[in-house]
Amino acid sequence: MTGTGKTALVTGGSRGIGAAIARRLGAEGYAVGVVYAGSAAAAQEVVAAIVAAGGRAQALQADLADPAAVPALFAAAEAAFGGLDLVVTSAGVMELAPLAASDDAMIARQIAVNLTGTILCLREAARRLRDGGRIVTLSSTVVATHFESYGVYTATKAAVEALTPILARELRGRAITVNSVAPGPTGTDLFLAGKPPELIEKLAQANPLGRLGAPEDIADVVAFLAGPQGGWINGQVIRANGGMA
Ligand SMILES: NC(=O)c1ccc[n+]([C@@H]2O[C@H](COP(=O)([O-])OP(=O)(O)OC[C@H]3O[C@@H](n4cnc5c(N)ncnc54)[C@H](OP(=O)(O)O)[C@@H]3O)[C@@H](O)[C@H]2O)c1
Repeated sequence: MTGTGKTALVTGGSRGIGAAIARRLGAEGYAVGVVYAGSAAAAQEVVAAIVAAGGRAQALQADLADPAAVPALFAAAEAAFGGLDLVVTSAGVMELAPLAASDDAMIARQIAVNLTGTILCLREAARRLRDGGRIVTLSSTVVATHFESYGVYTATKAAVEALTPILARELRGRAITVNSVAPGPTGTDLFLAGKPPELIEKLAQANPLGRLGAPEDIADVVAFLAGPQGGWINGQVIRANGGMA
């Protein structure tokens, strides 16, 4: 594998979809900052896999619920890699409950990580990304399905979808694209935790391809948007869900 000289920062890079994105970008020749909050060992495994495949990567710790941590994260990434070309915001949390049963803490956590954390990362990306760069946010197909109990989580993702084309316009003149990928049910801890097998199977059958998404399915879409063939797509939300919605 030959390095491209380009660098990527992937939040949520320690696990699930973000880990698959980090591995894929490493294989594509990016030097990858693998961002984790608590899963240091998992982040190191992702780094080790990228390095073992001939790539370059470094684990970087940041709790995106801490606003001060975000500029520090980007400064550390620039110090490690000398500049940034691609930022992918995959860090996220999901806590389900009907609105009437939602407590203050679960509302605050989802807004802090999924929304404020993403906004702060996008602000840093807008300030620091090299011209010609790429930004990819992670939304969710639940913005389209209106599932009950997903209200607060969906609200954070709808806000991320709204921000994405606005930032794309604000970056006019710098040849930077900003897009969002909205996965359907994808086989990660976030989706699988606490769901009975029958519900998982029902959601797997909710798209005409009849299976859950794999993290690698989503990594394929991010790699396309980040690569030269995705360069004319800007300010869009791509639903990657097998046709669920
Ligand atoms: N899986 C799905 O079905 C699905 C569908 C649609 C959209 N999505 C979206 O896709 C993205 C990735 O989800 P996933 O399924 O890969 O989830 P996951 O397997 O649960 O992984 C979540 C990632 O987010 C990081 N994270 C959580 N809280 C954080 C915080 N406070 N600060 C920094 N990082 C934090 C975790 O880091 P640590 O483990 O190091 O703490 C982990 O790397 C999320 O934005 C999610 O909303 C997922």
